[in-house]
Amino acid sequence: MTTETLAKDENVVWHQHSIDKAFRAQLKKQKPVVLWFTGLSGAGKSTVAGALETRLAESGYHTYLLDGDNVRHGLCRDLGFSEQDRRENIRRIGELAKLMADAGLIVLSAFISPHRAERQLVRDMLSAGEFLEVFVNTSLEVCEQRDPKGLYKKARAGEITNFTGIDSDYEAPRNPEINLLAGDKTIDVLVEDCLQVLKERQIIA
Ligand code: ADX
Repeated sequence: MTTETLAKDENVVWHQHSIDKAFRAQLKKQKPVVLWFTGLSGAGKSTVAGALETRLAESGYHTYLLDGDNVRHGLCRDLGFSEQDRRENIRRIGELAKLMADAGLIVLSAFISPHRAERQLVRDMLSAGEFLEVFVNTSLEVCEQRDPKGLYKKARAGEITNFTGIDSDYEAPRNPEINLLAGDKTIDVLVEDCLQVLKERQIIA
């Protein structure tokens, strides 16, 4: 840390505003939660998260979907795919998801987030029970066969480096709250699997 950063940390004090998370959540009549979708590129994270968001929003829940490809066009446009940049990508998204949960929202995030340590970092930013890890568990073989953006082909040809699953690691969750066997099931069934867990945890009625 530079001297400037240290000085800032010492001199910036958290301001507790009177309208808090509980109040905002109560106004929205819901429990804030972060559904953190993780998995390989092409696993189906955005598709399942999008379909789940539709079901929740149609039932009257206030939601927001954060999507890797979209966030990398704005907030994280300065970041690439080195280990360091991915770490910073997930740190920023974690902070953003935390603010959105603080606003009372049900947040769905769809990022490869390949490292356990970063996913744990985001879990630790949130209150107990507020972070639900959703493993979109699709094998590399299936993802590569789907190759919706043609990126696996490019990675195999050496045109892209640091590609997750090819020349960059993916650490599968050991104990996700939701484990979606996304290579074998339809989107509708996967959404039902998520809704079931949300009901069991009394996040939705
Ligand atoms: S993460 O690893 O930092 O969590 P993120 O989810 O934001 O990744 O972005 C992944 C998306 O970026 C992929 O779906 C893919 O479309 C694109 N992409 C481009 N280059 C790479 C790469 N080297 N590895 C993985 N995804 C890449």
